[in-house]
Amino acid sequence: KHCFTTGADGFLYCEGVRVEDVMEAVEKRPFYLYSKAQITRNVEAYKEALEGLNSIIGYAIKANNNLKILEHLRKLGCGAVLVSGNELRLALHAGFDPTKCIFNGNGKLLEDLVLAAEAGVFVNVDSEFDLENIVTAARLAGKKVRVLLRINPDVDPQVHPYVATGNKNSKFGIRNEKLQWFLDAVKSQPDELQLVGVHCHLGSTITKVDIFRDAAVLMVNFIDQIREQGFTIEYLNIGGGLGIDYHHTGAVLPTPMDLINTVRELVVSRDVRLIIEPGRSLIANTCCFVNRVTGVKTNGTKNFIVIDGSMSELIRPSLYGAYQHIELVSPPPPEAEVSTFDVVGPVCESADFLGKDRELPTPAKGAGLVVHDAGAYCMSMASTYNLKMRPPEYWVDAGSVVKIRHGETFEDHIKLFEDL
Ligand code: LLP
Repeated sequence: KHCFTTGADGFLYCEGVRVEDVMEAVEKRPFYLYSKAQITRNVEAYKEALEGLNSIIGYAIKANNNLKILEHLRKLGCGAVLVSGNELRLALHAGFDPTKCIFNGNGKLLEDLVLAAEAGVFVNVDSEFDLENIVTAARLAGKKVRVLLRINPDVDPQVHPYVATGNKNSKFGIRNEKLQWFLDAVKSQPDELQLVGVHCHLGSTITKVDIFRDAAVLMVNFIDQIREQGFTIEYLNIGGGLGIDYHHTGAVLPTPMDLINTVRELVVSRDVRLIIEPGRSLIANTCCFVNRVTGVKTNGTKNFIVIDGSMSELIRPSLYGAYQHIELVSPPPPEAEVSTFDVVGPVCESADFLGKDRELPTPAKGAGLVVHDAGAYCMSMASTYNLKMRPPEYWVDAGSVVKIRHGETFEDHIKLFEDL
């Protein structure tokens, strides 16, 4: 059973708690509301799928960097996937085991690589210059770095071009024509680098597991090729990217179990440890972005529901044309007319919409409205555009509503100019 459900009374609940009651109790402004139990369930689903395999679940921190959530994921046994020095600092602060952390990225800075070398996390090699920087960082830190080669497998993930990363013209990873150059380069730096694995990441919101299988077949062939040259390859990292049911149509989408089952026999056959890097599929469906209706208006042939939240707090619909399900938190009065609405925020941009052409009952002023599946790439991509300060976050933990992040305030903004 999912954490956010509509009760027999027509109200939306997060676990046992009415979302409308949370709105009354805690906030006058938009906020994010999570279910801690759902986070646990999502991790358990991966653990169950990985049963019997030697593996690391590297949670992709970019999806959601709330410190309380990170600590919870760490306690559940997850490692972390990092793409900046600050994400690395945060992972260490949250207590993640460095030997379960992977530092990724096409533009890693030397100073951040030094930090990674000192901490002893895995580092993915993305390019010639990146390899050079990793060698320098290893020398500066006085430590050998365990590296994986990020190979661009040229597999089409069949997703929005902005979230596709594994096709051959993408900025990420190295192409197989250059593989030998990288193997020779690693071999020539035995004091600085230890090659321990290969990595690929195809893209995000992937809803066909065959795509992962195709990539894994290519990757184990690379492992065979690399092992032939005397390297000890221990890890196969297949990245993240599993999609979720944003449309709430009840369509059956692949689960973590389906994903792991499609690569399991390949992993076993090469006797490697499997690293996966899920972000969205661990955290997206654990959260709603909660808003109040400011008013309803009509222009030309369009009806609009104007809410207090906007593209500043949740940019995925504006940026990718992404669909996230929208619902009112309380049952409409019987006289409320159902119409087709664009759900928009107050930001001065025509791109400021949370949903287009949604069939909804006409809401009253002040009614609660949620955007579902807002746990991944929503708060972590929030901005303060139009000085809409970043919202607070709460979770429901065993029936209680607990604040897990302060909302930013106007005073926080003024502070940035103090003493100048
Ligand atoms: N590993 C690597 C190397 C990645 O680049 C990513 C995501 C992940 C793991 C996690 O992927 P996931 O399991 O979350 O799909 N902002 C976009 C998504 C960008 C994903 C970037 N890379 C969105 O809101 O849809």
